[in-house]
Amino acid sequence: MEKKFVDISVVKDMEIIYVPVKKQKRPNSHCIEVFLLLMVFVTCLSILNPSFIDKMLSYCPLMKAKDKGNPETAGTCTIDTSSRFDCYPEKSLPTESECNTRNCCYDAQDSGGAPVCFYPTNYEGYRVTSKIETSTGINIMLNRTTQSFRPNDINQLIMEVTYETPTRFRIRITNSDPDVKRWEVPLDINRDKTGPGVRPLYKVNVSDVGSLFSFTVNRTATDSSNTLNLLKTGGAFIFADQFLQLSYFLPSNNIYGLGEHRDTLLHSMNWTRFTMWNRDHPPSENTNLYGDHPFYLSVENGGNCHGVFLLNSNAMEVLLQPAPAITWRTIGGVIDLYMFLGPSPNDVIQQYTEIIGRTFMPPYWSLGFHVCRWGYLTVNGTLKVVDRIRDYGIPQDTQWNDIEYSEGKRDFTTGFSTFGNQTSLVEELHNRGMHYMMIVDPGISNKADQGKYYSYDLGVKLDVFIKNVSSLPLVGAVWPGPVVFPDFTHPKSQDYWTAIAADFHKSVPFDGMWIDMNEISNFVNGSTSGCPYDSPLEKPPYTPNVAGGYLSYNTICASAKQYLSTQYNLHTLYGLMETKASNRALESIRGKRSFVISRSSFAGQGHFGGHWTGDNAANFYDMYKSISEILSMNMFGITMVGADICGFRDNSTEQLCQRWHQLGAFYTFSRNHNDQHKRPQDPGAFGPALAESTRKAYLIRYSLLPYLYTLIYKSHMMGDTVLRPLFFEYPTVVDTYSIDRQFLWGPALLISPALDKDQYTVEAYIPVGYWYDYYTGERVIGTGDKINLTTPLDKINLHIRGGYILPTQQPALTTTESRKNKFGLLVALNSTNLAEGDLFWDDGDTLDTYYQKIFNSFTFSADKNGVYSNPVFKGYTDEPMLLGNVTVFGLQQQPTGVTLNGVSTNYNYNAEYKVLYMVNLSTTMSNPIQIQWVFS
Ligand SMILES: *[C@@H]1O[C@H](CO)[C@@H](O)[C@H](O)[C@H]1NC(C)=O
Ligand SMILES: *[C@@H]1O[C@H](CO)[C@@H](O)[C@H](O)[C@H]1NC(C)=O
Ligand SMILES: *[C@@H]1O[C@H](CO)[C@@H](O)[C@H](O)[C@H]1NC(C)=O
Ligand SMILES: *[C@@H]1O[C@H](CO)[C@@H](O)[C@H](O)[C@H]1NC(C)=O
Ligand SMILES: *[C@@H]1O[C@H](CO)[C@@H](O)[C@H](O)[C@H]1NC(C)=O
Ligand SMILES: *[C@@H]1O[C@H](CO)[C@@H](O)[C@H](O)[C@H]1NC(C)=O
Repeated sequence: MEKKFVDISVVKDMEIIYVPVKKQKRPNSHCIEVFLLLMVFVTCLSILNPSFIDKMLSYCPLMKAKDKGNPETAGTCTIDTSSRFDCYPEKSLPTESECNTRNCCYDAQDSGGAPVCFYPTNYEGYRVTSKIETSTGINIMLNRTTQSFRPNDINQLIMEVTYETPTRFRIRITNSDPDVKRWEVPLDINRDKTGPGVRPLYKVNVSDVGSLFSFTVNRTATDSSNTLNLLKTGGAFIFADQFLQLSYFLPSNNIYGLGEHRDTLLHSMNWTRFTMWNRDHPPSENTNLYGDHPFYLSVENGGNCHGVFLLNSNAMEVLLQPAPAITWRTIGGVIDLYMFLGPSPNDVIQQYTEIIGRTFMPPYWSLGFHVCRWGYLTVNGTLKVVDRIRDYGIPQDTQWNDIEYSEGKRDFTTGFSTFGNQTSLVEELHNRGMHYMMIVDPGISNKADQGKYYSYDLGVKLDVFIKNVSSLPLVGAVWPGPVVFPDFTHPKSQDYWTAIAADFHKSVPFDGMWIDMNEISNFVNGSTSGCPYDSPLEKPPYTPNVAGGYLSYNTICASAKQYLSTQYNLHTLYGLMETKASNRALESIRGKRSFVISRSSFAGQGHFGGHWTGDNAANFYDMYKSISEILSMNMFGITMVGADICGFRDNSTEQLCQRWHQLGAFYTFSRNHNDQHKRPQDPGAFGPALAESTRKAYLIRYSLLPYLYTLIYKSHMMGDTVLRPLFFEYPTVVDTYSIDRQFLWGPALLISPALDKDQYTVEAYIPVGYWYDYYTGERVIGTGDKINLTTPLDKINLHIRGGYILPTQQPALTTTESRKNKFGLLVALNSTNLAEGDLFWDDGDTLDTYYQKIFNSFTFSADKNGVYSNPVFKGYTDEPMLLGNVTVFGLQQQPTGVTLNGVSTNYNYNAEYKVLYMVNLSTTMSNPIQIQWVFS
C-alpha cells in the first residue's frame, strides 16, 4: 500500500482518503486531535452510515470549509503506480518536504520509473462556473479556486469546444480576459468547418457547473450505443502564465509521432519523455532535435485510429506513462488541441493535413537522385563526381554544393577564386538535363564592408534582422563568423529574402534551396554578448528538459525580439517560416515549382517543403533508424523526406554504403550527402560492385517514378501518406504495429532492406494476401508470418501487393530523359484475379497544373480476362504518352492468345513464375486500351 503524505486521514472502505490542506491554512491542532481521536469511531460508523463522516467533519469548521463543502476534493493517494502523474518534474527524486509544498502524494519506493511525488486524485484546481452546450460545441468558463505552485496562475479561463467536422473537433483553452492577449501560433490553419453533421464520431463531455474541471472524449460507434473512451483527464490541469499542463488517460498503448525525435516507431509508454525545442543536434535518443511536431497518432485496441495535435509553439515536454496516459507540458501560449477521429490511420493524416496544409507539389526532377557533399572544394571537384556517377550508368538528377561554393561562407556569394566558375557548373548541369541546389544558412554576415554585401546591406535598410532586448540586431556566430538573422515574421522579410535570392540567381541560376542551420543554430549561446539571463523568458519558472538546461543553449536568446513576438514564442517556428519564404522566393524567381529542403521544421512544413533527417552518422544503426524517422515525418505531413545516404558523419564503408543506396533509392527524397574531410562516398567512389548495385536500385526507382509521383499527387490533394508503415495498411493486425525495418510506398510496394552488417538473409513480415517478388514475379502467399529472404549484397527485397497496378516508365539517367520514354503497367493479381491502379501525369514543373487543368489522369484495372487502361482526364498534350510494356504477375494459366485493342499481339509467358510479359508495344494512352487473353 502506498504511503500517505497528509497528516490528516481517515480510513474508509479500505482506502486512505486524502484531505488537501494548504500548509499556510492548516486546521488548528485541536481539530486534528479531535479528528484523530474520532478516527476509529468514524470508520466503524461510516460503514453503517457514510453520511456520518460529514456530520463528524462539520465539528471542525476549517475541515467543513475545505471538504464537506467540496466533497470532490477529498482525493486519494491510492493510485496505481502506472497512473501517477508527476507533480515534481524538476527533479527525479524530490524530497518528501519538497513534495509536501505542492500538496502532492509522496512515495519513495522504486516503482520502475513512476514519479515519487504525484497528484492525488481530484487535485483542486479549476472549477466549472458556466457551461453552455449547443449543437456545434460547448462554451465553458473555468475559475481557479486555489493557487497552484506555479507563479502567475491565470485564474479565469474560457474553454471552447468546437465540433468542426464529423471527424474533427477543437478544444481551445485560454485566459478569459479579452484585453490580455496570450501568444497563439500564427500558423495558417484551414478553418473550413462543416459542423458535426448528424453523426459525429466523437462525444465530448465536460464536468458540471460547480464541480472540479475535467473532461472526457468518447468515440461514438455507428450503432451509437457502444462508445469507447479515448480521453479522460487526470493528474492536474494547470494554466499559469509560463506553465500549462494537461494530462489524460489514453485508450491504448499504441502511440506514434511526437517529433522530432529518434525513438522506436511505436513509442514505449514506460515513462517516456519527449522534449520539443528545435536544436541543431545529430539524431540521437532522449533529446530535443531539429523540429517540433506536437502531434500523435493513436491506434486504439481493435484498430480504429485517432490523432491529436496540440497547436503550441513554446518549449514543451510530452510524457507517456504506462497507465496508459499522456501529459502535455508547455511553457507558454494556450491549449489549442485538435482531435481527428480517423478511423483509419490514413484518414487521421488526411484530417491532420487538412488543417495544417497538404504537402507541396514537388517538381518531378526532385524525385530523382541527389548527390551532395561538403568538401568537393571546386567546380571541377564537383563535376568529377557527376561524371563518374554518369560513367557508371547510375541515374542522377541533381547535384548540390555545401558552403564551400561561397565567398567566406557568406550566403548568396560565390567564391570564384577558390571554387571556380559556379555559373559554368550550373550551365553544364542544365545542359545535361540536370538541376542544381546549394546550401543557404539564415545567418547573414555583418562583417563585410558596408555597401559591399547586398544581403546584409538590404537587411539593414529594410530593418528585418532579429533584435536583442536593447532593440539592436542580435549578433550570433555561425560559419562566416558574426552574423545577424532575418526575422521571417517581419512584413518586409519576404521581399528581402526574394530580393537577395533573385540577385544571386542572376549569376548562379540555381533550381532549389537547401536551408540548413535554421533551428536557429548558433555557435555562441544566446548572442555574442550573452542574454539577459534573469529575464523570465531566459529563465522561466519551469524549463522543460532541453539539452544544455536553458533555452538559449546553442541558439539565440529566448528574449530576442521579432516583429510578431519574442523568440521564446517563435523559436520552433523559424525553420517553417524560412521554408515558406524560400518557397515563395523560388516561385517568384523561377516561375516554376519550388523545391526547398529544410533541416528545422514545425507542423505544416510539408506544405512548403521537405526535410532531411540531419547530421546522421555512417553506421548500420543510423541507417536502420532512418526508417522510423522518415515514416514519422510522413505522419507529420512531410512527404519529401530522406536521410543522408551512406551517413553524413564518419567515414562510410563500402558495404554500408552499398546497402544504404539500396534503401535510399526508396526514400521519397533520395540524397547522398557527406561531411567534409570524410572518405568520398558518392556511388562512383567505391568501384564497380557498389556502382552496379546502386545502378540497379536507382533504375528500379526511376522506372517506378510514375507510381511515386501519383502517390505524391494524392498526398498533395488528399493528404495520404506516401512512405507508410505496415500498420497503415493493416491497422487491425497487432503484429504490424512495431515493424520499423520494412515500409511501403503507398499501399502496394513493400520494401524489406538488409540493415545489418554482413546480413544476407532478411526476415520479412509478409501481410496476409498475395504478394509478388518484384524481380521474378514469383508469388508469395502472405500468412502474416515472417519469411526468410535471401538478400545478397547487390539486392534489396521488393514485393508488389496483389490487387494493384503500378504505372511505370522506362528509366534513363535523368528524369528529363526518362519522361520522354514509354510507360508500362505492372499488374499484380489478387486471389480473385483482380487489380487496379491509377496515374497522374503533367509536365512535372508548372505550378498548379491540377487547377489549371493541364494534366492527364488514368485508371487501370484488371480482371480474369484482361487489363484495361482508361483516360479519365485529358488536359496535358505536350508529350505523347505511349504504353510500351505490360507485365502481369499471377496469371495462373498460360494464355493461348493475347489481343491489344482487338488485334492479336505478341507476348511471353513464364510458366515457372506465372508471369505474362508484353514488350515493345507502342500504343497511345490517350484512348482506352484493352488487353485481353484467351485460354483455349
Ligand atoms: C521501464 O523502465 C524501468 C526503468 O527504466 C525498468 O526498470 C523497467 O523494466 C521498464 N519496464 C518495462 C515494462 O519495460
Ligand atoms: C473564483 O473562485 C474564488 C475562490 O473560490 C472565488 O472567490 C471567486 O468568487 C470565484 N470567481 C468566479 C468568477 O466564480
Ligand atoms: C464513454 O465511454 C465509457 C466506456 O469506455 C463509458 O463508461 C462512458 O459512459 C462514456 N461516456 C459518455 C459521455 O458517453
Ligand atoms: C578545371 O578544369 C578545367 C578543364 O579541365 C581547367 O581548365 C581549369 O583550370 C580547372 N580549374 C580549376 C580551378 O582547377
Ligand atoms: C563563368 O561562366 C559563365 C558561363 O560559362 C561565363 O559566361 C562567364 O563569363 C564566366 N565568368 C568568368 C568570370 O569567367
Ligand atoms: C576518413 O577518411 C579520410 C579521407 O578519406 C581519412 O583522411 C581519415 O583518416 C579517415 N578517418 C578515419 C577515422 O578513419
